[in-house]
Amino acid sequence: MFVSDCLNINEQGHLTIGGRDTVELAQTFGTPLYVMDEQQIRSNCARYKKSIDAFYGGNGLACYASKACCTRAICQIVKEEGLGLDVVSGGELYTALSVDFPMEKVYFHGNNKTVEELLLALEHHVGRIVVDNITELELLNSLAKAQNCQAEILFRIKPGVEAHTHQFIRTGQIDSKFGFALETGEAMEAVKKAIALPNITLVGLHCHIGSQIFDIDPFEHAAQIMLDFIRQIKEQHGYEITELNLGGGFGVKYVPEDKPVEYERYMEKVSQVVHNICQKSGLKLPFIVIEPGRSIVGTAGVTLYQVGGVKEIPGIRTYVSVDGGMGDNPRYALYQSEYEAVIANKAAQPKVRTVTIAGKCCESGDLLGENMPIQEVAPGDTLAVFSTGAYNYSMSSNYNRIPKPAMVLVNGTEARVVVKRETFEDIIRNDLL
Ligand code: LLP
Repeated sequence: MFVSDCLNINEQGHLTIGGRDTVELAQTFGTPLYVMDEQQIRSNCARYKKSIDAFYGGNGLACYASKACCTRAICQIVKEEGLGLDVVSGGELYTALSVDFPMEKVYFHGNNKTVEELLLALEHHVGRIVVDNITELELLNSLAKAQNCQAEILFRIKPGVEAHTHQFIRTGQIDSKFGFALETGEAMEAVKKAIALPNITLVGLHCHIGSQIFDIDPFEHAAQIMLDFIRQIKEQHGYEITELNLGGGFGVKYVPEDKPVEYERYMEKVSQVVHNICQKSGLKLPFIVIEPGRSIVGTAGVTLYQVGGVKEIPGIRTYVSVDGGMGDNPRYALYQSEYEAVIANKAAQPKVRTVTIAGKCCESGDLLGENMPIQEVAPGDTLAVFSTGAYNYSMSSNYNRIPKPAMVLVNGTEARVVVKRETFEDIIRNDLL
């Protein structure tokens, strides 16, 4: 009925998430409130893990791209589910360390890792460092040499496949800040250099073709291109790449019209492509890594707000103001991302209004959506916005010095705070006079 399996309506006509009444959650924990359903996160993790077992003989690893939502509790769940972790900063790595995440399953990304970040990664024996450019390669080699260790790396490659929600294009795509280009020979030069560097072990290649993708074709194309490059490396340098990381990007449902592919189908198709190509070109089957972020946590989350003023501008539009906004969810302001919303305390009623939901920031663009169908709405109602588990908390800000919301994790009858609500004291914590 809703965009996510974990949402429903109870006998009071209230929206539930993971079986918990959202109106009660809002009353107990206050608003705005991020609510995440633990079972949904766990079952998404398990689906990816099982699909690698089923379609690729278990010869791979699904890593959760923690940029989608990085908290200690979520890293802990991912660890318990046996997935790896994609981190892209010292802060994400530090969060993983704080829950004793098995470091051998951590992939460290980023196009400009600092010396401190690289040292942190080496010191804790992070499984793989995904090297973005030559400067980083040389820096990492010298840091590893000083630490008397070997850095196991992947190269980030621009495969020339760029995918968006409903389409993808194959272009040169040299113009990206991430990774090495194939067509200029830059990637092959880097490979040659890496093979020769004493404190670097080149294990694999990585690519990431986009986010919120609804097609399988672009992933198949990317796999083909990457395997072709692996073949060329073998032919030119006699060097066998053993790991292929195809990144994340699997789409999720935000609004009823979204039709994401079942996650299992990606692995099934990509696995066929990899098997076929490897057989034809005499390559060993590589260890496959995928990095889903949004599709692990996106639909597991809702954000609850309290409705304040309702401003009707005759013949123009109705603004419904809520007690959060672009501070806790900047995605509409940034990308005009669409969401579905309901009045949680009237969830069983028909949607009879079309409104613009406005946040409380001092900025006209602070909207959570326009032309949104919604139930009859009045001040004091609880508004629930769906599919906010990914890239909401992780992209939140303190604009206008608004404290960030709390995050509650629900699991059956249990509901526990996993991120405390910020206070005004938190807001001035780092200020000095
Ligand atoms: N791996 C790499 C190297 C990535 O750069 C990303 C996302 C992922 C994995 C995970 O992609 P996912 O499965 O979550 O699509 N802020 C934007 C999304 C940016 C994605 C950046 N990279 C948004 O709110 O839509």
